[in-house]
Amino acid sequence: MDIKVDRYAVFGHPIAHSKSPLIHTLFAQQCAEAMQYQAILAPLDGFAESWQAFVAAGGRGGNVTVPFKEQAFALAEQLTERAAQAGAVNTLYFDQNGQLCGDNTDGAGLVQDLLRLEAPLKDQPVLLLGAGGASRGVIEPLLQAGAASITIANRTAAKAQLLAEHFGSKVSGCALTDIPAGTYPLVINATSSGLAGERPAIAPEVLSGCTFAYDMLYGKEPTAFLHWCAQQGVARQADGLGMLVGQAAEAFRIWRGKTPATEPVIAALKKALA
Ligand code: ATR
Repeated sequence: MDIKVDRYAVFGHPIAHSKSPLIHTLFAQQCAEAMQYQAILAPLDGFAESWQAFVAAGGRGGNVTVPFKEQAFALAEQLTERAAQAGAVNTLYFDQNGQLCGDNTDGAGLVQDLLRLEAPLKDQPVLLLGAGGASRGVIEPLLQAGAASITIANRTAAKAQLLAEHFGSKVSGCALTDIPAGTYPLVINATSSGLAGERPAIAPEVLSGCTFAYDMLYGKEPTAFLHWCAQQGVARQADGLGMLVGQAAEAFRIWRGKTPATEPVIAALKKALA
């Protein structure tokens, strides 16, 4: 008897180090879903062709990572509201009419992880460092999760101010070096500075009321930002591994209608990274 296995994939460039195949394989085992998930290296100028070839070969849905999230946004025939807000798509699926839908689960993944970690979020002011794509996708989900306000601080102040304008009076933008005095219990690093082993150049005083530092990046070692926050006496730190698993769990739910438990998968990934 043939058992039908539904195919999914993550598209990126580079893609070899993606953890998504492992995460979704563990989700599929946990939820007893017959599915296969692979990593596809799409050519830099050929994301759409790569996706279409995958669909022609029976692909049911996909995740999209750097640098194709904007191209996936352009390719989708329908967008969820949160994908439209983010200006980027990380999850593709087909609706009942066969239309290609683009969603963005990154913000939901971050919020899910912050709730799991019991980070100070609801009714609290949030300081968000960075004004690029990673930052844009999480602002609305953070507001919906009850953040009292969001201060976006960026190396290039104008980008933070421009981004803030999209989101109403609870969101403001400033330079990293000009963060308004105040208490920020939760500080989230959404810059890519950690990729270069650097941290955003904020003054230590900014952290005076911070009890929780989060970095959307993750790795074997703490990022430069989290390392510095620990040195400054911030009580708790977390990297973006939980967000990665959280965004994947939300994509899995969209595709399969089941919500997998993230804890065991985060633990397995931590073990694999160590
Ligand atoms: P992503 O999609 O990861 O957000 P991006 O759109 O290229 O990538 O944005 C990178 C973000 O990290 C920007 O906010 C960038 O600041 P600038 O807008 O001033 O360029 C920020 N960034 C990168 N390296 C940084 C560093 N060393 N210190 C502070 N901010 C940095």
